[in-house]
Amino acid sequence: MKNISIIGAGNMGTALAVGFSTAGYAVRISNRTAAKLGRLSAVAGISTTVSNLEVVDDADLLILAVQPRALAAVLDEIGPRINYNRTIVASLLPDESISDLEERLKPYNKAPMVARVMPNTAVSVGESMTFICLNDYSEAFSAELTEVFAAVGKVEIVKEAMFASAMLLCSCGLAYALRYIRAASQGGVSLGFEADAAARYVCQTLRGAAEMLERYNLHPEIALDTVTTPGGITIKGLIAMEKAGFTTAVIEGLKLPRTEA
Ligand SMILES: NC(=O)c1ccc[n+]([C@@H]2O[C@H](COP(=O)([O-])OP(=O)(O)OC[C@H]3O[C@@H](n4cnc5c(N)ncnc54)[C@H](OP(=O)(O)O)[C@@H]3O)[C@@H](O)[C@H]2O)c1
Repeated sequence: MKNISIIGAGNMGTALAVGFSTAGYAVRISNRTAAKLGRLSAVAGISTTVSNLEVVDDADLLILAVQPRALAAVLDEIGPRINYNRTIVASLLPDESISDLEERLKPYNKAPMVARVMPNTAVSVGESMTFICLNDYSEAFSAELTEVFAAVGKVEIVKEAMFASAMLLCSCGLAYALRYIRAASQGGVSLGFEADAAARYVCQTLRGAAEMLERYNLHPEIALDTVTTPGGITIKGLIAMEKAGFTTAVIEGLKLPRTEA
């Protein structure tokens, strides 16, 4: 799977293009307006265009990185041009199911290879947590797709029933992690550090926590016990955070939003 194309050079399309090109892939990316392509066109390994049709030709993987409101127009334009024997059409759109995608492509092909892909913007630094779900026709390419996204982070193939949960935990989850970093940095400022220094210190602390859990295969609660001296200030800090609703706030934020009646 050599030729990666992306339609939409917004936050996610740009992050994917940068991540894949850094990992050594040649990437083609199109965007409706030229302005967003300027910075990307200077990056080695990325070719940019305002023509969606140009990136469709010879694509092995065609990533749709547009907002839901743009999808119909994009597919009307590119649908007839896709090579359905070669190209896997991968959508980043959160609410577009595999069967929705198949239905949209049905006028052009009865058996399109489609996938839902849910990365986060840390793809740009090769540290995404990406979830992929495949249809009957793309399933044969599971290993190849995993290899492509493993170049920009960790990958998990999931059943579609888990897709929304995966998005909340790790795509929205990136925002929640950033919120923690912001909050902890502000706490650092109140302790007397400059804001940028506090943010750097918090980032490294989080990196260390994650690395420790993964390397030693530890449960967080076990690791917590090793840093909470009996009667010490860490346990007092944790208790104060819990009193303010820390764990509940995180779990509540991760619940699947309910459609209002
Ligand atoms: N951001 C995230 O962290 C994230 C994570 C996972 C999934 N997603 C999903 O990924 C998709 C993209 O999100 P985003 O945050 O990157 O959105 P975004 O920043 O709004 O980018 C969308 C891009 O699509 C372009 N576009 C619109 N119509 C087009 C067309 N007809 N042809 C070519 N390009 C067109 C827009 O170009 P203009 O310059 O003309 O507006 C814009 O640059 C969404 O469905 C989102 O739900 C996002």
